[in-house]
Amino acid sequence: MEYFKLNNGEKIPALNFGVYEIDIDKTKEAVLKALDIGYRAIDNAQIYYNEKEVGKAIKESDVPREEIFLTSKNWVSNAGYDKTIKAFNKTLEDLQTDYLDLLLIHQPYGDYYGSYRALQDLQKEGKVISIGLSNFYPDRLIDLVMNNDVLPQVNQVETTPYFQQYEANEVMKKLGVSHQAWGPFSEGMDNLFENPILKEIADKYSKSTGQVILRWLIDRDISIACRSVREDRMKENIDIFDFKLSKTDIEKIKEIDRGESPFIDHTDPETVEEFNEEII
Ligand SMILES: NC(=O)c1ccc[n+]([C@@H]2O[C@H](COP(=O)([O-])OP(=O)(O)OC[C@H]3O[C@@H](n4cnc5c(N)ncnc54)[C@H](OP(=O)(O)O)[C@@H]3O)[C@@H](O)[C@H]2O)c1
Repeated sequence: MEYFKLNNGEKIPALNFGVYEIDIDKTKEAVLKALDIGYRAIDNAQIYYNEKEVGKAIKESDVPREEIFLTSKNWVSNAGYDKTIKAFNKTLEDLQTDYLDLLLIHQPYGDYYGSYRALQDLQKEGKVISIGLSNFYPDRLIDLVMNNDVLPQVNQVETTPYFQQYEANEVMKKLGVSHQAWGPFSEGMDNLFENPILKEIADKYSKSTGQVILRWLIDRDISIACRSVREDRMKENIDIFDFKLSKTDIEKIKEIDRGESPFIDHTDPETVEEFNEEII
């Protein structure tokens, strides 16, 4: 495993196992399998509704808790100081742990300034090692940073060959906030795994297109949350620490960039409404 250094001196694993959309009855098994294969970081969120099952897997696993990097995300309906603390305590209970390695604000909606104050206090108390954001595009990120004394350690945003996020990455690098990618495979949308540019690069390194996508992110200093419930793909996705892409390959992949998400527009009023209406 490779790691990236965070602005508070802590480190984050380059590859995190994401549990979004894994069925409740399959989550424990998937997390146990991932830990067995060698994953040591789990990307959770309150809104994924499966933190209890992740907690059961961690409890059952032979891997000690302190070797697992646990992330969770505070959902919009839990925004605000008091609600963030309450939801965090429920997350700890569900995950059967007494601290988190990383707590993120899931979306830049609701009273996220209140949430960010709560995150800072949780960090001061040692209940959360690192704090951060998710889906904060440069405008929201800069505003939050300019109005708080503590710099977030991480910002997790969608980053895939279809949406490469070079501009957002520049802003994060300049501020010293570590960029983390969600949805690196765009769930295989529009035949991403068959893309000829990615396939050609994959052939050159005798790797799969999935492995090239993950390596491409790490070689840009971006950590990753990615998901598979299949054992063969879990193994494939973690087998990326024995090669590096050349600068030319990274340049070539720029040709695939569409400059926008194939899934979601965070400035679309419908998205804002939808996320605010999802009460947990
Ligand atoms: N912060 C946010 O707002 C946010 C939003 C979305 C996601 N996330 C995080 O990011 C993680 C990853 O994103 P995601 O779950 O949306 O999708 P993803 O990791 O981009 O893609 C997952 C899909 O790709 C397939 N897959 C995985 N590895 C593969 C491989 N090597 N070859 C072919 N297909 C492969 C999986 O199928 P199988 O399972 O059948 O293998 C699954 O359908 C999430 O689990 C979550 O932790 C965060």
